[in-house]
Amino acid sequence: MQNLIKLPGLIDVHVHLREPGATQKEDFQTGTRAAIAGGYTAVLDMPNNPIATVTPQALQEKINLATGKIYCDVGFNFGAGSKSVQYFPEVVDKVFGLKVYMNQTTGDLLIEDEIALEAVFSGWPKNQVVMVHAEGDTLQKAIALAKKFGNKLHVCHVSLKAEVEAIKSAKQTGMKISCECTCHHLFLTDEDVKRLGPYGMMRPPLSSKEDQQALWQGITDGTIDMIASDHAPHTREEKEGEKPAYGVPGLETTLPLLLTAVKDKRLSLDKLIDLTYTNPKRVFNIPDQPDTFVEVDTTIRYTLDAERLYTKCRWTPFAGMKVTGKVKKVVLRGQTVFDGQNIFGPYGQLLTP
Ligand code: DOR
Ligand code: ZN
Ligand code: ZN
Repeated sequence: MQNLIKLPGLIDVHVHLREPGATQKEDFQTGTRAAIAGGYTAVLDMPNNPIATVTPQALQEKINLATGKIYCDVGFNFGAGSKSVQYFPEVVDKVFGLKVYMNQTTGDLLIEDEIALEAVFSGWPKNQVVMVHAEGDTLQKAIALAKKFGNKLHVCHVSLKAEVEAIKSAKQTGMKISCECTCHHLFLTDEDVKRLGPYGMMRPPLSSKEDQQALWQGITDGTIDMIASDHAPHTREEKEGEKPAYGVPGLETTLPLLLTAVKDKRLSLDKLIDLTYTNPKRVFNIPDQPDTFVEVDTTIRYTLDAERLYTKCRWTPFAGMKVTGKVKKVVLRGQTVFDGQNIFGPYGQLLTP
């Protein structure tokens, strides 16, 4: 018995499409095809490319490269570098958020210096989001800076109980703060690292069962506003090398995992829509996509299989997991862009707020 339901085109505010500079991992074409197959019709791309998106020129290069190649709509997040503050006024109308890396991870955008951080938080317009990669204690620093300068703060990939608690209290004080968590932190824990090896390594790392429970609780009580994939593909060679790259792909596994949680009654369908559409759209000011929807069959049970993925990296830490719920059709502005088997396009457009 099939059960077809309609969802809005999903929005992912945290995706690493890797072009230019790391197209061995992913590019605009493969990454947006993966998005479409996963039920996403709009994604925001992150700035930590080898030549980071920290200047108007680097942003323009991405815009040029993406034009005519994208299957879903794509918007950009600008990167905070020690010298990028001067460009904020020039780029702010072209991007959805400013990404600030306050801990070491892929790329070289780390900012730790207090004076540099103050310049970044004070310089970014207050009607636009500052997105932080701030793990553990660093989160307190980000909250303090956003409070001091009146920023709209968005906390990326919350993974610890202490982080959920810190965000919950900040919300109670009336601060403009939102956050996301990922499916790897919701469905995997540090116990999976042994089995997955480098394929279970990302920043922030997989956390404990107790942390994981706090994330599910944070979803239930509204502390966690949205789910982002943090789609961070790397090649198998890069994962199996001496210093494995941090990150996992997620665009094609997020919706099946969340639909499975709905079937298991861990999540309501309304909540799934809030987490993957309504809240990302509201917080990041994503424009409407008329006549756009996703059709899923909520009854199909199958095993996640890396061979079927559209992402260039062709692996997933969720391989072998049984899920219930499959994308059968995606319609973007009235055009069928996925029929469950084939992708059509490219019909994606570049987004500005
Ligand atoms: O695991 C991660 N991978 N965490 C990040 O913060 C960056 C990302 C990447 O770009 O590979
Ligand atoms: Zn991050
Ligand atoms: Zn990321």
